[in-house]
Amino acid sequence: MRVLFADDDVIARTLLAAVLADLDHEATSADNGDKAWEAFQLAPVPLVVLDINMPGLDGLEVCRRIRTHEAGRETFVLILTARDGRDDLANVLEAGADDYVAKPTSPENLRARLEIAKRRIAQDMARRTAESELARSRWLAGIGETTIALEHEIRSVVAGLDSQAAPKGGRASSYLRDWYAPQALAELLSFRGQIARREHADVLHVVLARAARSARRTRHFDLEFPRSPQLEPYWCHKHRRTCRPVESASHFLRRYALDTLERIKQFQRLRGRASSASVLHDDARSIQLEAGFDGIITSPPYPGLIDYHEQHRYAYELLGLEDRREQELGPAARGSARAALSNYSQGIAAVFEHLRPALKPGAPVLIVVNDRRDLYPEILAAAGLKLEERHRRHVNRRTGRRAGEYYEDVLVTRFA
Ligand SMILES: C[S@@+](CC[C@H](N)C(=O)[O-])C[C@H]1O[C@@H](n2cnc3c(N)ncnc32)[C@H](O)[C@@H]1O
Repeated sequence: MRVLFADDDVIARTLLAAVLADLDHEATSADNGDKAWEAFQLAPVPLVVLDINMPGLDGLEVCRRIRTHEAGRETFVLILTARDGRDDLANVLEAGADDYVAKPTSPENLRARLEIAKRRIAQDMARRTAESELARSRWLAGIGETTIALEHEIRSVVAGLDSQAAPKGGRASSYLRDWYAPQALAELLSFRGQIARREHADVLHVVLARAARSARRTRHFDLEFPRSPQLEPYWCHKHRRTCRPVESASHFLRRYALDTLERIKQFQRLRGRASSASVLHDDARSIQLEAGFDGIITSPPYPGLIDYHEQHRYAYELLGLEDRREQELGPAARGSARAALSNYSQGIAAVFEHLRPALKPGAPVLIVVNDRRDLYPEILAAAGLKLEERHRRHVNRRTGRRAGEYYEDVLVTRFA
């Protein structure tokens, strides 16, 4: 076991070093309290032996500090007291020590106390491991129940797809009527009608949006930027054969329902116990947030490339989401002329300035971007952010027209 011991008396240190070596401990020594505290902070250990009287920080003060340290709450602290120190015992307890030995002491006595300390540490560790395993299995049982309920609901909706009589699902906008074949649209609307009041409607809405993206009358290689509905068979660059526009949506609904369920189950096995997420839908320049965030990770839009509302219009139309395209930063519709770029840069800088008060001091702001127009040095300066590091990453698994080599930078920044 790793042990830190501190004593200003060289003879006492020599004795301790010999006993600890004899017990096969890996020991580090300090000849005063300041050095002991420094050594503990650099490399916390499970067992610390401190002489009570030392120059600088005394043993009790080092013990108190260890107790306030994240890693020091479980550390076993043994204090070496003076034989005639009458008040020592109360002080030793008050400082949070676990045991004491009065000096001068024999090697046998010291050895026995260190053996006891070692057993206590092993018992505490076994108890902590058992407690955390119990907490984890309770938590897994809890999410297990949620997953079973979710799975049951998804499977019953999927089963409903097969027994669909005449689908009924409400009226559709002209956009939906143009972009979906009649059968596909009827299936999507029917699914929407079925899921509205389900317990896991949020998950099922994600399934609906994923299926709706695939079921549009588009060419297979053109899912991201289709301009007009594809009504006739076409030569498909992706599959190297003639493909037909999609007629039905039920196979997509089934596939994405099961795939979404599988992903949720996988993620539940991985996710941390204390973690949860809230999704807020708002303009990042004015959204109301509570303070105290540890950092930001963002992948902002890039100017003149994509109209996000338009690209995902099928979801806005089907789910009845509020259209806020006017608030989009750098939409393709506004182009990439000088005025548009400058508007974009001001907008992104305004986002960071707005979010600053919600961050803890010194919190990192990570920005993922392919800054081929070199706009970010100016944006960071305007927002008061300082670039610390830049990591380049290769982006693979891109589809459609944007396939090919593509790199992004992760900018690690902080407010100056
Ligand atoms: C490059 S995408 C990144 C999306 C997502 N973070 C991801 O990694 O998949 C940029 C996103 O910024 C959103 N956006 C554009 N203007 C915004 C604004 N003013 N406030 C909040 N989000 C905005 C777009 O709608 C789009 O979803």
